[in-house]
Amino acid sequence: MTLHGTAVTLRPTTEDDASDLAAILATPEVARWWAGYDEQRVREELVRSPDTGCFTIEHDGEVIGAILYVEEPSPDHRHASMDAFLHPDWHGKGLGSDAIRTLARHLVHDRGHHRLAIDPAAANEAAIRAYERVGFRRVGVMREYERGPDGHWQDCLLMELLERDLT
Ligand SMILES: CC(C)(COP(=O)(O)OP(=O)(O)OC[C@H]1O[C@@H](n2cnc3c(N)ncnc32)[C@H](O)[C@@H]1OP(=O)(O)O)[C@@H](O)C(=O)NCCC(=O)NCCS
Repeated sequence: MTLHGTAVTLRPTTEDDASDLAAILATPEVARWWAGYDEQRVREELVRSPDTGCFTIEHDGEVIGAILYVEEPSPDHRHASMDAFLHPDWHGKGLGSDAIRTLARHLVHDRGHHRLAIDPAAANEAAIRAYERVGFRRVGVMREYERGPDGHWQDCLLMELLERDLT
């Protein structure tokens, strides 16, 4: 299924995207928040993982990043978690929030989720702002939640969006 945002298109990620996505993940601006992804890891975790839904983000026919989701299968805790990255040439132009909004609408309207979650590093102000633009709200800081690229545990911010928050 291909999803259409205002200026981005999301299409299911394939093996052919692995080298483009690995090159984007290798840029310092992205690796700062998505550390340690080579082409093999992209294939394993973004393309082939049965638990992860991954869409390649295109703008004017060019691959500019990816956005993914994981669904909680337990019926009483049903929700989906999301994550995303864009090539630095396209940061700060509204394309990230366009992609996040487009996937959020798909997860709510097509896949029936009433709640979405996302957990950026607490220091990742651009990501937090992009998620807030879509309607995600700050729940709270999860202390020393994730190992950062420097090997130290770093705080992350749990953010959530309910169906009625979606802008
Ligand atoms: C996070 C990411 C997907 C957001 O996409 P984007 O296209 O850059 O985001 P948008 O342009 O839609 O929105 C970014 C917002 O953050 C703001 N912003 C940018 N840098 C900022 C900073 N250092 N501090 C605070 N706000 C910042 C922008 O002004 C914009 O807000 P505004 O529209 O209210 O002015 C993209 O920046 C990215 O790939 N970053 C690297 C990887 C990453 O961090 N992934 C997320 C991991 S959780």
